[in-house]
Amino acid sequence: MGRIQNKVCLITGAALGMGREHALLLAEEGARLILTDINTADGEAIAKQINGSGGEAIFIKHDASSEEDWQHVVEKGTRHFGKIDVLVNNAGVFVLKPIQETSTEEWDFVQSVNTRGVFFGIKYILPAMQIAGGGSIINISSIYGIIGAPNASAYQASKGAVRLLTKSAAVEYAEFNIRVNSVHPGVIATNMTKDLLADDATTEALLGSAIIRRAAQPKEISWGVLFLASDESSYMTGSELVIDGGYTTT
Ligand SMILES: NC(=O)c1ccc[n+]([C@@H]2O[C@H](COP(=O)([O-])OP(=O)(O)OC[C@H]3O[C@@H](n4cnc5c(N)ncnc54)[C@H](O)[C@@H]3O)[C@@H](O)[C@H]2O)c1
Repeated sequence: MGRIQNKVCLITGAALGMGREHALLLAEEGARLILTDINTADGEAIAKQINGSGGEAIFIKHDASSEEDWQHVVEKGTRHFGKIDVLVNNAGVFVLKPIQETSTEEWDFVQSVNTRGVFFGIKYILPAMQIAGGGSIINISSIYGIIGAPNASAYQASKGAVRLLTKSAAVEYAEFNIRVNSVHPGVIATNMTKDLLADDATTEALLGSAIIRRAAQPKEISWGVLFLASDESSYMTGSELVIDGGYTTT
């Protein structure tokens, strides 16, 4: 308990899936939370649950692809808590289609949330982290930001961009005592993969070369996010934390 006591953490896409699990674990470990999502009902519910069990969280409706929303969230979060120490750029969307069937709109939609959203997050969190005297930015990429797979070109391009954007930001912001790292989950059981994990044949195909032959639970990624959010990772920046059941090993 208390591994990130009193650190103010902003998590995007926190209403459901992994973002929700990150929120619960960081709250358990003493964080004060700014939770954001386009899904207001589930976002408010998770903030209420955390406040009801002795934690501290506020929910702000936020489309991660919107520059205006980012400015509003950082301003409101800083006004409420006085600073922001940790940003988890978790919100993400998935389009599963071969390249020739991917429309320009679908391509732009995926990039707008997964890549532009992360860019805005990094850009607008800087003043809040300067007030805090430094910080940790955790960008959720994917194994699909490292390796290729069929029918996921828009998603893979976006997650590959997040991987390198992380390293650019790590280099630029080191002088402000801001660490920037990416996390690369393998196959995780959330709404994003629910349909794919519904039958054994698709599950087997999705698990690809994973050595551990099962999908992970969201919390198995949250432990990694907690480590990067805490001072335990103080010498880590520009790194890729791969949590994939060995998928990218073979
Ligand atoms: N599930 C997996 O197997 C897997 C694997 C690797 C990486 N990831 C990545 O992990 C992150 C979380 O994925 P998940 O599986 O929990 O997904 P999910 O679909 O279960 O949850 C995503 C959350 O993001 C929110 N969201 C969607 N668009 C948004 C926007 N424009 N602005 C703000 N919030 C928005 C949704 O409302 C939802 O609450 C994503 O970045 C995803 O790409 C997922």
